[in-house]
Amino acid sequence: MKIGVIKETRQNEKRVAITPKIAKDFINKGFKILVEKDAGLASAYDDTSYEDAGAKVVSKDEIFNDSDVIVKINPLEDNEIEKLKSRQVVISMVYHRLQPELVKKIASKGVSLFSMDAIPRISRAQNMDVLSSQSNLAGYKAVILGADHMTKIFPLMMTAAGTITPVKVLIYGVGVAGLQAIATAKRLGAVVEATDVRPETKEQAESLGAKFISVEADTEDISEGGYAKEQSEEFLQKQKEAVNKSLFDADLVVTTALVQGAKAPVLIKEDQIKQMKRGAVIVDMAVEKGGNVELSEPDKIVEKYGVSIIGKTNLPSTLATNASELYAKNLYNFITFMADKDQFHFDLEEEITKNTLLVKDGEVLIS
Ligand code: NAI
Repeated sequence: MKIGVIKETRQNEKRVAITPKIAKDFINKGFKILVEKDAGLASAYDDTSYEDAGAKVVSKDEIFNDSDVIVKINPLEDNEIEKLKSRQVVISMVYHRLQPELVKKIASKGVSLFSMDAIPRISRAQNMDVLSSQSNLAGYKAVILGADHMTKIFPLMMTAAGTITPVKVLIYGVGVAGLQAIATAKRLGAVVEATDVRPETKEQAESLGAKFISVEADTEDISEGGYAKEQSEEFLQKQKEAVNKSLFDADLVVTTALVQGAKAPVLIKEDQIKQMKRGAVIVDMAVEKGGNVELSEPDKIVEKYGVSIIGKTNLPSTLATNASELYAKNLYNFITFMADKDQFHFDLEEEITKNTLLVKDGEVLIS
């Protein structure tokens, strides 16, 4: 089968779905790789490096005319959907719950569509899990962004001119991004605290050296399939009371809390920001999903009450070389699980297929 790699068109998107190294791995398995001209340039992979790996560099039209499989990171745009040929297989992130119309539009072309963001959270799918691979990098970058914006250094430093005390970092949400944010802040020398609704995250946060702030839930029913559920107003109020002391004392706050299929919970309101330390920085990693912080805005730094609130979207793209490497490896593991060099297996009883195959030959299976 020929796999076609499309150049990403989303604004500020620097990643590419397949890197030269992974192109070579596919070719060694008997696949052919077509890459759109300059597709990898923003991730620091030039056309020559793809050609050296054995891939063919072509135009976008040639990819749509000649490929059996079209791969991308972001969902297809309208002008790309128009070019699809029936029986092609499309693989990208789709966020189908948020955009059912997009799924229908792609289905109308008679193709099959797999969604990389719908990989189930099971052990054998861990090496295909793009949400994890990308969130991990984003958690690292959030701390670096915050550090760059602060007027303080992270570690304890004893100098002839006096002792500098370490900064205090508070992390909301101890999932994949939160754990990496804790690890990064600790490595830089901060004193770190963290909180989450899922009690199992206490041990994980503590194993990385953070102090965990527990909030008692009034129900056992707080998570499903590894994801947190939406919390009641009472819980959010209790959380506020438990975390406020640390929040008002923090130099850097990173918020990562997400709830699948719903808007991100608002965890820090304006009245709390008013009481934070002058010079404190908040990085709201959930800004694209509505935000964990009342005042955050996508791709803006809001300065209010002496606090800077950073709402940068698409953090993985700012680490495009590594993010593409990991996405490409996830994609390789996914495709070589779902297909051999000649065809896809479409085993509709198998769990990873059942969760990710949104459209089969034009028929919408999940919307
Ligand atoms: P996520 O991105 O959906 O959410 C981030 C974090 O925010 C989660 O830890 C969640 O519990 C927390 N959160 C949600 N609402 C909150 C609130 N109101 N207050 C405070 N925290 C809140 O989650 P992510 O990072 O995608 O993964 C969640 C978990 O899934 C991981 O920690 C892991 O245990 C599991 N996982 C399993 C995998 C596998 O087995 N293949 C792969 C990746 C993750």
